[in-house]
Amino acid sequence: MSAFKTLDDVDVKGKRVLVRVDLNVPMADGKVTDTTRIDRVVPTLTELSDKGAKVILMAHFGRPKGAVVPEMSLKPVAEATAAILSRPVAFAGNCIGEEAATAVATLADGDLLMLENARFHKGEEANDPEFAKALAANGDIYVNDAFSVSHRAHASSEGLAHLLPAYAGRSMEAELRALDAALGNPQRPVLAVVGGAKVSTKLDLLENLVGKVDRLVIGGGMANTFLAAMGKPVGKSLCEHDLGDTARRILEAAKAAGCEVILPKDVVVAKEFKAGADARCIPLDAVADDDMILDVGTDSLGSLAVHMEDTKTVVWNGPLGAFEIPPFDNGTVTAARQVAMLTKAGRLTSVAGGGDTLAALNQAGASDDFSYISTAGGAFLEWLEGKELPGVKALSAS
Ligand code: 3PG
Repeated sequence: MSAFKTLDDVDVKGKRVLVRVDLNVPMADGKVTDTTRIDRVVPTLTELSDKGAKVILMAHFGRPKGAVVPEMSLKPVAEATAAILSRPVAFAGNCIGEEAATAVATLADGDLLMLENARFHKGEEANDPEFAKALAANGDIYVNDAFSVSHRAHASSEGLAHLLPAYAGRSMEAELRALDAALGNPQRPVLAVVGGAKVSTKLDLLENLVGKVDRLVIGGGMANTFLAAMGKPVGKSLCEHDLGDTARRILEAAKAAGCEVILPKDVVVAKEFKAGADARCIPLDAVADDDMILDVGTDSLGSLAVHMEDTKTVVWNGPLGAFEIPPFDNGTVTAARQVAMLTKAGRLTSVAGGGDTLAALNQAGASDDFSYISTAGGAFLEWLEGKELPGVKALSAS
């Protein structure tokens, strides 16, 4: 893991601290419906405030593409953040210029202020140096506490780190340490669970993982593409038949790297994907032309359980089956609970993240017992692909 400075390395008292947070939270009817991302930045914000910093939050919401879109204002998020912190959070209707400067000038030590959506300016996503300078004008130091935006080389997530002394916030620090324990410097054997609908969206990820992990469990619709590539019948299941060569190439690469690929041995099928559909667990070779594979079968879960027994590190991304509709959530739920149980017993380290993963693990009631659950979507996937994330790189370089 590259070196980066943390809040332990700086005296923030009386300083204007620009903190990049990811408050791109789910909202309905103007209210935040899931506060996980806000909860994650509470330690950084309270620590900075308690130490007497003037805490200035920078964030984005949605993808307004450089225009002011009132429905994408961060004001309701500022209110939700204030409620969670049990401290006032002032709000400035612009993240740069006069309005921001005036709001910052009125802050006393320990006060908090949230700036309006940085993406209301084109300069944010363009990482325009002039826009970054305008942001930097309101801060003495920069803290990045938003791993989940660090795959974006934007002004508030990357550019600022070159203009002000830069530090990782507590959430960023925890995330980088957890990810390092999972793939950077893990205890072996390492087992990765990769699920989800399509191989095509996870090619780079699979190619990177086969070189890094000892066991790769492939589930979800993706597994069907591999099964078809191996000549197995998949009926009318979700399957990217045109990726047969790619799937075979990944299997070859895994073999060459000594990575054991674990595909379903048996599957749960139904004639249609709907609640209450007649689901049957059958051997792979018994899949009929009008069957849809919707989950892994019981033998597959048994074999996975055996593999888990001596696994020391689990990296999890994506569901093993069509978990949105029971009973096709059984594979994901059973396997996730086993990982949670082994983690709780101190027998392995488990890290999960990306896309649908959090929802699937929450549904399994397993997320509390994983060692670490990332709230990152795209950033977690890019990290699994082995890419260097610009926001993290800038922090290490600072
Ligand atoms: C996310 O929700 O994953 C992050 O906030 C990044 O958002 P983006 O994909 O719009 O850059």
